[in-house]
Amino acid sequence: MPKHFLTILDIPRDEAQQVLLRAKEMKDGNVRTDLLAGKTLLMIFEKASTRTRVSFEVGVRQLGGDPVFIASKDSQLGRSEPLKDAARVLSRYADGLIVRTFGQEKLETLVEYGDIPVINALTDEYHPCQIMADVLTMYERTPNLKDIKVAWVGDGNNMAHSFINGAVTFGYQLALACPAGYEPDSEILDNARSLGAVITLTDDPVEAVHNAHYIHTDVWASMGQEEEQLKREKAFAGYEVNDALMGKAAPDAKFMHCLPVHRGEEVSESVFEGPSSIVWDQAENRLHMQKAILEWIYKD
Ligand code: CP
Ligand code: NVA
Repeated sequence: MPKHFLTILDIPRDEAQQVLLRAKEMKDGNVRTDLLAGKTLLMIFEKASTRTRVSFEVGVRQLGGDPVFIASKDSQLGRSEPLKDAARVLSRYADGLIVRTFGQEKLETLVEYGDIPVINALTDEYHPCQIMADVLTMYERTPNLKDIKVAWVGDGNNMAHSFINGAVTFGYQLALACPAGYEPDSEILDNARSLGAVITLTDDPVEAVHNAHYIHTDVWASMGQEEEQLKREKAFAGYEVNDALMGKAAPDAKFMHCLPVHRGEEVSESVFEGPSSIVWDQAENRLHMQKAILEWIYKD
């Protein structure tokens, strides 16, 4: 049976710790450069991407494999060829699918009908590769993740959902501040809490960042929600991560953002470009973590 990575919870907790360690080792140069020798990974992207696309393409190559990028609009997928058909065809050509799309159920269809690993490169519901890299970025500074408080200030979106799952797997305390109507999915939250995660939800950013060591945010309108931009700007007024809000967090708290950023909306220019911001290290870690995820899938 192929291994898939659709959400962080697909990696058993003890193995997730190992993935984290391996990502750090790879960052330090210990890379299995033949891991993917002779393997082709297809990358199907239905949404734009810079970091995820390039870090996977470079990462697959560094592990000795061949990435093949498919922009869905240029393929028959963009002309409504059913995914269940594409899954069976592509499984006969390649050794894995790295997919950025809309609904999570599309990945589930690829898993059901294909017989090669499927990796979630972002859906409307989750962004697990990003949060694995974000956990690596925090772990480098705070190896005991159980000691940290992570604050999420913004939309209860794909990033927030993966941070919720990450709280189950890695044991950090998570405080979410989301405006009314933009809270995370309650089933995802309830499930994480039932698995032992310590997560609070408020509509007050100051309450969420109190004593927090890492402050995360994201755009207010995600890909596919562009027409809601103005409505969301109103709903998210007061949610900018600025110097005043950072001043309410723990001393020496760090600011993080998955990028791309809208300066002056979800974060002020001064915080984004300031000394507490670790966004470039965070972006770099996408590359190391993609390779660790690929190793987790293909090492056996
Ligand atoms: N953070 C992130 O996933 O960036 P891209 O959309 O550029 O891949
Ligand atoms: N929430 C954002 C993340 C982009 C990396 C989106 O889905 O557009």
